[in-house]
Amino acid sequence: MKVFVTGVHGYIGAVLAPYLIERGMTVVGLDVGYYRDGWLFSDNGAMRVQPYTLNKDLRDITAADLEGCEAIAHLAELSNDPLGQNNPRVTHEINHRGSLTLAQLARGAGIGRFVYTSSCSVYGAGTGDFVDERTAPNPQTAYAECKVLVERDVGQLAAADFCPVFLRNATAYGASPRMRFDIVLNDLSAMAHTSRRIAMTSDGSPWRPVVHILDICEAIYLALIAPAEAVRGKVFNVGENSENYRVRELAAIVAEEFPGCELSVGSSSGDNRSYRVNFDRIHSELPGFRCRHTARDGARELRQLFERIEMGADTYAFRAFTRLKQLKYLQQTGQIDAEFRWR
Ligand SMILES: NC(=O)c1ccc[n+]([C@@H]2O[C@H](COP(=O)([O-])OP(=O)(O)OC[C@H]3O[C@@H](n4cnc5c(N)ncnc54)[C@H](O)[C@@H]3O)[C@@H](O)[C@H]2O)c1
Repeated sequence: MKVFVTGVHGYIGAVLAPYLIERGMTVVGLDVGYYRDGWLFSDNGAMRVQPYTLNKDLRDITAADLEGCEAIAHLAELSNDPLGQNNPRVTHEINHRGSLTLAQLARGAGIGRFVYTSSCSVYGAGTGDFVDERTAPNPQTAYAECKVLVERDVGQLAAADFCPVFLRNATAYGASPRMRFDIVLNDLSAMAHTSRRIAMTSDGSPWRPVVHILDICEAIYLALIAPAEAVRGKVFNVGENSENYRVRELAAIVAEEFPGCELSVGSSSGDNRSYRVNFDRIHSELPGFRCRHTARDGARELRQLFERIEMGADTYAFRAFTRLKQLKYLQQTGQIDAEFRWR
């Protein structure tokens, strides 16, 4: 299968492309390269297989770019809540309009499978009660709103010869050469490694489901190869019921995995996004899927990585590993314009 992977130079994309290639797929990548300044490690097979990649903006894709492809895994977006709030207008253009146009082009070109990386953040502010795919979304940010709009609009394109699949991923963690330290478990682990101290200002009470980056890659792979009738137009939460944690529980797990790390929890409530997610559907309806990793495994794996590469505080703080910092830097230095296009 020849798969067009957008966002291939991002945190998940940089792991997904080799993952698919090693499973016998041919990958053509696309990425505009906002975070190419950040590459955390090159050993451990990080460079073993790299796909042919178009250095292009999602908003400029044409049908010719998709020629010969049989499936799409679409990841290229402004990829978190703060990033979306930084510029909601451009977020809607890239994340909603760009994704819809890509799906329309795919359908027009006879590409049968379209796997979209949505997010559990569509559940938004909740009480901490369990939510599942039938729960009405409650998006709190431009980022989450766009995820809901893409699911709605691309879902309407589903047809006998066009099979979109929507994967609502929990918050990812784990090693990627194109690292992100702005997602909770990676951030806590880097903090523990570099300062031996996790000082939370908030009380850490919100619930967050987390999922290993390789379990997301497996879900994408399985969604690409599943029989169309099993997945057409379906939404799947990606994760595991037992991997819903309060943020302070995640902090405690990380503190235990980094010997000598002190942990203190604050009192403010801060973040109103709290959701506990039910993951039964993906386990029963996406053939072959199961999660192989836990948050504790992830923290241990990150500790081993940070020790191996002797990661210091300067690397943890480097702009390219925090998506919002890097985009603000590209804006402030005039490298991208008001539309987030390279000058
Ligand atoms: N990482 C998570 O915890 C998580 C959780 C749920 C959903 N997701 C979704 O998975 C996808 C990938 O996430 P990630 O963590 O790898 O994000 P990321 O920010 O690391 O990667 C996104 C990639 O897309 C590229 N991109 C952005 N705008 C583009 C454009 N206009 N044209 C072409 N390329 C563009 C960026 O350069 C980047 O390489 C995103 O859609 C994100 O919303 C991620």
